Amino acid sequence: MTDHEVRYFGRKRGKSFQRLEPFEKFLDIPSKKIFTEMKKVPKVLEIGIGDGIKISEDAKNNNKYIYIGCDIFIDGVLRATKFKLENKLDNLFIFHLNVQSLIKLFDNNFLQETRIFFPDPWPKNKHKNRRTFNSNLLKQLSSKMRKNSILKFSTDHADYFLDAMILSSKYGFKSYNNTPNMWQYSAFNATGTKYEKKALDKNNKLFYFSVLKY
Ligand SMILES: C[S@@+](CC[C@H](N)C(=O)[O-])C[C@H]1O[C@@H](n2cnc3c(N)ncnc32)[C@H](O)[C@@H]1O
Repeated sequence: MTDHEVRYFGRKRGKSFQRLEPFEKFLDIPSKKIFTEMKKVPKVLEIGIGDGIKISEDAKNNNKYIYIGCDIFIDGVLRATKFKLENKLDNLFIFHLNVQSLIKLFDNNFLQETRIFFPDPWPKNKHKNRRTFNSNLLKQLSSKMRKNSILKFSTDHADYFLDAMILSSKYGFKSYNNTPNMWQYSAFNATGTKYEKKALDKNNKLFYFSVLKY
């Protein structure tokens, strides 16, 4: 898939854009070099960081990992960039870019973890081809993830969850933590993201999985 084929249909900026605009000049510039020069510590990719708060706090609380986040929605990208500067974090890299273009820049076996939390569900049948977690992404991602690396997915849409499970097993991932409630929301697998909170407020059923690359 070429870059111009990666179309995006969601919102690209929100209410906080004006306030955060001054941080645009500090955005990380995507290049192959930035990734080849990264230290030999585990790397976590978060796809669609939304408001940018989860990845920012994770990077602050865990300096043994490098956190790489991307989104097309600029407000969260700028909020995380601001947080990175204010907290002088050298383990947080945030890109205003779609994930398909970003992961092309990674070497093979680059990632120890990939997360995609509450991706846009596009529930109508005619819009399902807009979903980010699709076979093109899985094909790309599969080679960038190391053996035994972890892929985490969550959603409040049952059919997206099932499709994602099937896709991930097709592209070399298998489940490892089989317990009776492994698919369900719990304090253990909670992500604490904005869209998780929204789904909980609406009393929606939430679904989670973690799978290993083999
Ligand atoms: C429903 S929001 C969820 C945000 C966050 N993960 C959460 O749980 O609160 C989905 C996010 O994915 C982003 N997104 C959609 N397609 C993307 C893509 N191809 N690459 C990067 N981000 C994408 C959207 O802009 C949006 O911010």
